Amino acid sequence: MATEAPPLTPIRWRGRSVLVLDQTLLPGEEVWLELTDYGAVIDAIQNMRIRGAPCIGVAGAYGVALAALEYSAEPGRLARRLRTAADQIRRARPTGANLDWAVRRMMNVAAEHASRPEAAADALVAEAQRIQAEDQDANAAIGRLGAELLPTEASVLTHCNTGSLATGGGGTALGVITTAWSQGKLARVYATETRPLLQGARLTAWELARAGVDATVLPDSAAGSLMRRGCVTAVVVGADRIAANGDVANKIGTYTLAVLAREHHVPFYVAAPTSTVDLDLPNGNAIPIEERPDHEVTHVAGVRIVAEGVSVLNMAFDVTPGEYVNAIVTENGVARGGPASRGLARMMEHSHA
Ligand code: MRU
Repeated sequence: MATEAPPLTPIRWRGRSVLVLDQTLLPGEEVWLELTDYGAVIDAIQNMRIRGAPCIGVAGAYGVALAALEYSAEPGRLARRLRTAADQIRRARPTGANLDWAVRRMMNVAAEHASRPEAAADALVAEAQRIQAEDQDANAAIGRLGAELLPTEASVLTHCNTGSLATGGGGTALGVITTAWSQGKLARVYATETRPLLQGARLTAWELARAGVDATVLPDSAAGSLMRRGCVTAVVVGADRIAANGDVANKIGTYTLAVLAREHHVPFYVAAPTSTVDLDLPNGNAIPIEERPDHEVTHVAGVRIVAEGVSVLNMAFDVTPGEYVNAIVTENGVARGGPASRGLARMMEHSHA
């Protein structure tokens, strides 16, 4: 078993810039990038150097803070320029709710400083750091509450990456898993998302190895067989956006896992902070699904594996209807049943809007 490594924080504010761990290079290389302007933050989000819905929210918040610093020499124009920057930042990736949520929070702080713009940049840096710290606390609560749902000796399957790399803290679904592991409740973790971006194989496996958790990576297409053999006690995944009726958008392949879980009577849990919940959307049909560039499918590690001229469909996310979800774990409590929408609305009453 590997020795436990110190907590991982893939994004940090330093002085007048943001440091991010380039996740496209993991696990081979640990390269830190220093982003000094908001355009570089947008680029890092779009190119998946920084990813995972809550972490993208934190990055977007730092992006607004960087824009405020960039324009602080002209306080008279700050409000208008910040609005333009905020609009560009919130469009960087469309599916995750946390980016828009964080940018809105930042713009509320900017609005409070309309009469003293010279103080806005400091206030915005502080707000972005608060957003990150709150996500860290939310992750800890989600980890505790989610671990309570798992029986002892559980074998848990998780999809994509929802750990420290994807959040401001210890992770959502992966936070549940590492908490349960530290309580001695887990027998094994199965990690999927072996295509197109290998977020499970590259990132989750790396995080679990780092944390000393016994993990097995399997091709996405093997999940059904594994469940049929009775090897999976529960599926725990994260979310990018949760609609008011409990429909959940998450990394492509999540819906398939939910259907398989139901077929095999395996509970299917979603772990996410309330900043991922979007009560303005009545159901999952209204969630925008990001389509990403073809090369993520046609190429593996820079090598073309699909014949030239063949068309590609690269939907980065899918929507799992709420009725497939046994419980949604947030920092404010667990919404049970499918759909878990009534419980969800109650949880939002205590959240930071
Ligand atoms: O495309 P990504 O890597 O940003 O997608 C990540 C996921 O889908 C995660 O499951 C989700 O963001 C939850 S992260 C806590």
